[in-house]
Amino acid sequence: MKIAIMGAMSEEIEPILKEVKEYKVSKVADNNYYECNYAGHDLVIAYSKIGKVFSALSATIMCERFGAKCMLFSGVAGAINPNLKIGDLIVATKLAQHDLDITAFGHEYGYVPEGSVYIETDATLRALAQKVAKEQNIELKEGIIATGDQFVADESRVEWIRDNFDADALEMEGASVAVVCDALGVDLFVLRAISDSADMDAGFDFDEFLCSSAKVSASFILKMVENIDSYK
Ligand code: ADE
Repeated sequence: MKIAIMGAMSEEIEPILKEVKEYKVSKVADNNYYECNYAGHDLVIAYSKIGKVFSALSATIMCERFGAKCMLFSGVAGAINPNLKIGDLIVATKLAQHDLDITAFGHEYGYVPEGSVYIETDATLRALAQKVAKEQNIELKEGIIATGDQFVADESRVEWIRDNFDADALEMEGASVAVVCDALGVDLFVLRAISDSADMDAGFDFDEFLCSSAKVSASFILKMVENIDSYK
């Protein structure tokens, strides 16, 4: 089974490429895709560039062109839940698009007809992650992740997203990848390490902690791959 590992930024994927060491590079639709074998599994690895459109494009290519049947997303997020501190890991139980708004037609925020506000991630992959975390003595929190095409650095926007989506963390790609995986029948796991609190210091904190938090997430994703045999 081909496994996709995806991030949005090079900083989120470089630690993984460094660890797998050898790979074949292909260019599709102006982006690089890295194929390799790691721990007995065929992988396709890529960073999409930031945001919902680029991430949906890359996720589609990884599934349709490269045949991935399982998608592991790795990256960083801004914390909404005050229990989440910089470097903490959060696994998405479900994801929503906080910037999707056709409320003018009486719909809820995040909803489009024939879609749904939330898309759930794969419960078996989440359970595997908790098992791996327990064995490695790593704390893995779970929660709702909200996605939008905005770098949020504003406490009132954070409160709005929390109040409308009950979200614990926010980022810019997870829900769009979830839409793609859901439509294509691909199992999805989304892991994020906290880089900031989406407040007025978020820009500074993001620059400061992007690399260290991205490494925390990437290293756990590789541990997942090493243990993925027991899944399904
Ligand atoms: N990813 C990490 N921090 C973020 C923030 N504050 N807003 C959006 N995406 C993020």
